[in-house]
Amino acid sequence: MTIERRQASVARGVATAHPIEVVRAEGARVWDANGKEYLDFIGGIGVVNVGHNHPRVVRAMRLQLERFTHVCFQVATYAPYVELAERLDALVSGARSQPLPSSRASSSQPLSSSRGAFSQPLPSPSSSRAAYKTLLLTTGAEAVENAVKIARAYTNRPAVIAFDGGFHGRTLLGMTLTATGSLYRQNFGPFAPEVYHAPFPHALHGVSTEAALRALEHLFATRVPRDRVAAFLVEPQLGEGGFVPAPPEFLKELRRLATAYGIVLVLDEIQTGFGRTGRMFAFQHFGIEPDLMTLAKSLGGGLPLSAVVGKAEIMDAPAPGGLGGTYSGNPLACAAALAVLDVFEEEGLLERSQALGAQLHAGLTGLQSRFPRVAEVRGLGCMLAIELSSEGESAVELTQRILDEARARGLLLLRCGPHKNAIRFLPPLNAMRDDIDRALAILEGAFQASLSA
Ligand SMILES: Cc1ncc(COP(=O)(O)O)c(C=O)c1O
Repeated sequence: MTIERRQASVARGVATAHPIEVVRAEGARVWDANGKEYLDFIGGIGVVNVGHNHPRVVRAMRLQLERFTHVCFQVATYAPYVELAERLDALVSGARSQPLPSSRASSSQPLSSSRGAFSQPLPSPSSSRAAYKTLLLTTGAEAVENAVKIARAYTNRPAVIAFDGGFHGRTLLGMTLTATGSLYRQNFGPFAPEVYHAPFPHALHGVSTEAALRALEHLFATRVPRDRVAAFLVEPQLGEGGFVPAPPEFLKELRRLATAYGIVLVLDEIQTGFGRTGRMFAFQHFGIEPDLMTLAKSLGGGLPLSAVVGKAEIMDAPAPGGLGGTYSGNPLACAAALAVLDVFEEEGLLERSQALGAQLHAGLTGLQSRFPRVAEVRGLGCMLAIELSSEGESAVELTQRILDEARARGLLLLRCGPHKNAIRFLPPLNAMRDDIDRALAILEGAFQASLSA
């Protein structure tokens, strides 16, 4: 009923992937209004890496609820905001100084088990406070907007270079920076000025790292000189754009160019962050260090919360009064985030992300060997996707049929990629091995049914 009422009351521009009404959620599962249970491998689009309604997160929210829910950080200071800022500063600082895993990032292999950020003692907040600072906000798009503001304030330059396949939000600047599909832009222009795009390498589609870097040089030569560029904005592994990991040499070259030409390197880790790729942050796979990072999604464990974390000197470029927002760093959301970070430590979620990712990757590779329509299995850690090829029939239609079949069999999955022909897997990082096996079995059945349809 609610779904029919929705047609009459909600703007149609908000599309919904699955025609179900969720009434309950717990761990890796959700239940619809008819009592049907689903394995949820979408997790609110990468928001519940610790699972739905984690008891520790719920308890922390309850405690905060009884104290206060809102005062606004521009009005008065409160501890959960400051405590979270300290923990994020320490976490990024600690992640930065950790050695690379022995296995390199690659588009076709999951990580081997490597020690995660929490396997080693974290630096104490005070030791890192001078190096990194944090700004808390509400949504991912808001974090991206603020990262651009901070980079512009620091460099006193206007331009931002983003990359094809990047998704950075739906605000005016966010959608201008986004290049994952014209649906997000429609007739919403004119778009924000001083945003340029360069190719993101993806061998499957014929874009090599060398070609992408040549195109970037061409952009500098023909459209925007280096000394007008405030920031590079890049996802270390595309999210909405198809779960394509950046080749390490590509990110390393962006890092080198950024340092050489005074450009701020902003990594958008909104989807890749908080253990999704098997490390706390995806940049840890690449042997590079960002100047600024945007974080959101799984940070708040289901509550709206985002952050910009970055080098203190850059973060402090805007003068007092230039940053903020009424709900930014809401106390309830901060309390949830602090509990999320505790869960990572207590449940060893980085190691579990690596193990689940390896299991899922092996299963998907097996699927690929049985179904040649699977053109590629890719991703880091537990951030994996399969891309389907068009053979006579459009891959988009096949992808949709597989998602519908999987849902009918009790598994929720989501598409991604500019052509909507990839299927992404975002299970909670504390899912059981049996959940992964069950999801793979459902997927196999969905493939069989969809290909014979
Ligand atoms: C990488 C990335 N950046 C930014 C955003 C925008 O976040 P939000 O929807 O919270 O504004 C998203 C959302 O999917 C994302 O995946």
